[in-house]
Amino acid sequence: MGTIEVVLGDITRQEVDIIVTAANESLLGGGGVDGAIHRAAGPRLAEAGSKLAPLEPGKAVATPAFDLAPVKHVIHTVGPVWEDGGHGEDEVLLSCYVQSVLLAEELAADSIAFPAISTGIYGFPAERAAGIAALAVRSMRILDEVLLVAFDQETCDALTRSLAEPIEEWCPTCGEKGIPLVFGRPVGEVSAAAAAGLVALGGCLVSGEGDDPVWQCPQVHRWGGGTRDEHRSQAVCFEAVAVTLGEDHGRSVP
Ligand code: APR
Repeated sequence: MGTIEVVLGDITRQEVDIIVTAANESLLGGGGVDGAIHRAAGPRLAEAGSKLAPLEPGKAVATPAFDLAPVKHVIHTVGPVWEDGGHGEDEVLLSCYVQSVLLAEELAADSIAFPAISTGIYGFPAERAAGIAALAVRSMRILDEVLLVAFDQETCDALTRSLAEPIEEWCPTCGEKGIPLVFGRPVGEVSAAAAAGLVALGGCLVSGEGDDPVWQCPQVHRWGGGTRDEHRSQAVCFEAVAVTLGEDHGRSVP
């Protein structure tokens, strides 16, 4: 399973296949990290981006990285502008990370570097954003290497804390500890984690309404659901698989 690492530094210096930029809907570049990446990649980045604009918040598109080589692609994603936390900002920010990882996998990338999306000009509180970034990448362990690049110590510390934070869930009925509940035909490693009692298998019958439970306790009570909870359960499932494989969760922090 791939590693996740927090790095303090300039994202344009990272030696990865893909660099993610915190863009605006025009994809023409701007200030902050977007400005730094556009300066390093050269004017062709804005030309290529403008052909894919406008980009909705939470979505992600890829262009070549041009002068940023050996970086292969730049993924442009538009984060949410922070208002008060009551306008779906968390969900949009989670989507930026998830959509970028899925696009990176489509591009057969091995490594990706993320900035702290939305925590600058868009005003998203650093600690809250770090929790969302860490949850997203812990629940999407499909790339070999993920770098969360902080440009300041406060962001670096927030990301490091968030990555190290255990994800725990307790049964609302009996109070016992929950384990991830996985539906569908399990891959080998998930079956091994289930045999070790770290993951519960729910079989193949799902409601199809997207409201299936995502946690189960030893008394076989089932609960939870919704986007964020699904990612929490997925993250615990990946970590259970890592334990079964004898890996150290693949999370490395400075
Ligand atoms: N490397 C890594 N991180 C950086 C760099 C850099 N070279 N420069 C800035 N950052 C950090 C900031 O310190 C912040 O933590 O990137 C994070 C995101 O801040 P912004 O770049 O301001 O992005 P965001 O808050 O998402 O606002 C996006 O700003 O630049 C414009 O076009 C962009 O309109 C969009 C808006």
